[in-house]
Amino acid sequence: MSERPYRSALYIPGSKPRAIEKARGLPVDAILFDLEDAVSPDEKVAARATLVEEMAKGGFGARARIVRVNGLDTEWGAGDLAAVAQMQPDGVLIPKVNGPADIDAVVAAVPGVPVWAMMETPVGVLNATAIAAHAAVAGFVMGTNDLAKDIGTRAGVRREPMLFALGACIMAARAHGVVAIDGVYNAFKDDDGLAEECAQGRDLGFDGKSLIHPAQVAITNAAFGPSEEEVALAERQIAAFAAAEAAGQGVAVVDGRIVENLHIVTARATLAKMAAIAALEG
Ligand code: COA
Ligand code: MG
Repeated sequence: MSERPYRSALYIPGSKPRAIEKARGLPVDAILFDLEDAVSPDEKVAARATLVEEMAKGGFGARARIVRVNGLDTEWGAGDLAAVAQMQPDGVLIPKVNGPADIDAVVAAVPGVPVWAMMETPVGVLNATAIAAHAAVAGFVMGTNDLAKDIGTRAGVRREPMLFALGACIMAARAHGVVAIDGVYNAFKDDDGLAEECAQGRDLGFDGKSLIHPAQVAITNAAFGPSEEEVALAERQIAAFAAAEAAGQGVAVVDGRIVENLHIVTARATLAKMAAIAALEG
């Protein structure tokens, strides 16, 4: 679990200054400024210049500013990384990462900028552990649309065909202390479907979800932040465990369930996350 909240990470096409302006006032934890798939080929060079200008203007507050570049194997990749070196964002997001060598190439171009990996190819998912282990890698963003295309699956209820990939990437992320952000929910007017997919992503262990539209932000923040019930339970567990310890016992009981030291670790993490969210929201 990361110290900083990453409940919501909104993609914003670098080609749309109006959307970028909007982001300055949205309650998102992270912004994924996109130069890749949300920008058409004939707009890419102009979008890069727009983004450099907007980043220099600033005004994004505590939101993590992450720039998704075009692949290094495209005609725009090198120019995008040069722009990233100039912008010094909080992270650079690389599409279609297949292995640690792809990360090395980025570090050489933008040393010091934390690298985020789009996990969206079968090879990348199978190499998730080595990618997460790379010292420069700070986060994973699941590219579930690309992954669905490559796997040959149709999107479906509860994403059963996607679960192996999601689980493999979460496990690798947790093994190496990397943030893990779930893929987008395409039907941006379907609030119930979004809420259901958020709950699934939260239960799988993701820190948050990537989003395509501002209307998705509130539902996502609620799903990935601790609920009032979770916070209240965490407080009761901590109190009950402290009382048990004072009485010389290693185990407490809360609501008919045992509470051991490991549950206290989770309870403290829940309270820390709540405090981090409160600090972020000022
Ligand atoms: N970030 C910030 N603002 C956004 C936004 C985004 N991702 N998507 C839409 N908005 C803004 C619009 O600019 C508009 O603002 P305005 O009323 O001040 O003009 C407002 O939200 C309402 O937009 P709406 O008309 O509902 O959406 P749309 O039809 O213009 O756009 C999409 C729909 C899906 C094309 C658009 O949301 C989008 O481009 N999303 C990002 C897609 C992307 O990045 N894909 C790559 C990763 S999967
Ligand atoms: Mg993609």
